[in-house]
Amino acid sequence: MLPRTDPTRHDAEIPLTGSGSSGAPAEFETPAGLRAKDLLSIGDLSADEIQLILDTAEAMKEVGTRTIKKVPTLRGKTVVNLFFEASTRTRASFEIAEKRLSADTLNVAATGSSVVKGETLADTVRNLEAMAPDMIVLRHAAAGAGHLAARLCRARVINAGDGMHEHPTQALLDAMTIRQRKGRVEGLKVSIIGDLLHSRVLRSNVLLLRALGAEVCVCGPATLMLPDMARLSVRATTSIDEAVEDADVIMLLRIQLERMRGYFFPSLREYFQQFGMTVARLRRAKRDVIIMHPGPMNRGVEIASEVADGPYSVILEQVANGVAVRMAVLYLLAGARHE
Ligand code: CP
Repeated sequence: MLPRTDPTRHDAEIPLTGSGSSGAPAEFETPAGLRAKDLLSIGDLSADEIQLILDTAEAMKEVGTRTIKKVPTLRGKTVVNLFFEASTRTRASFEIAEKRLSADTLNVAATGSSVVKGETLADTVRNLEAMAPDMIVLRHAAAGAGHLAARLCRARVINAGDGMHEHPTQALLDAMTIRQRKGRVEGLKVSIIGDLLHSRVLRSNVLLLRALGAEVCVCGPATLMLPDMARLSVRATTSIDEAVEDADVIMLLRIQLERMRGYFFPSLREYFQQFGMTVARLRRAKRDVIIMHPGPMNRGVEIASEVADGPYSVILEQVANGVAVRMAVLYLLAGARHE
């Protein structure tokens, strides 16, 4: 199902004569939107809304193939990218997505902002809100940071990763990549292997994959399992061979040393020996398996370079889809029924 209006029309020269309150052409004023004001968790989305985002992202992807990679969809809207944690893919793809939709963008990083003088997240958000942005894209080390920001401001908040909690747009771009390669998500066997405990990507992916009907197996050292694994309706194993066997999709997760307090395994070398994805291990997988990784990768820790750069890898397709998915989320939130 595609949105009622076409957000990708190359009508960049449409005069601003629409009757909409923003001054944008009326046809871009009322896209089929999302129910919630913000996108904080995959749990905020119904299965139909997830499909709507993925379908919209497919339409948005075409914009990136044009000579002039721009549509006027968010002309007149202001988006603040507020990143309190390091990021390459998410920050760059949000900014590219915003620019392709003609939004005005502002980037605020912790370094160089008044956060270094001790200003709180709440005060930072309140002060940015006073400048009337339409959306805030927030990455923060604390779980629930997006929820706090969303309560404090009228602007729509998109969670770009909150601590070890969730990373909803990552799960959406992962689903887009799976759907492109496999034609569906329902019924697929997806194995997620690595540092489960510290991964927001895992949590968002499990919610999304289960909502779309995939079977999920998670695998890692017992010390890196989630305490609430049973609640997530996934199969858990500490055997990587078991996780690889029969999987349609293998998703490797980064070992997040920066979030670890203490030792969860003896050494990175031993982790690679037991849980690293190698060409030899991959021989047990289905012939059409795809290998995913959200990035950044620790080569030689959770994944061998031969696998990361090999024929089964779709890792750079994930990155490419990140722009389209974020365009879709920005567009659909801008037209949320909430408004
Ligand atoms: N996948 C991901 O969130 O990457 P970045 O941390 O580089 O944004």
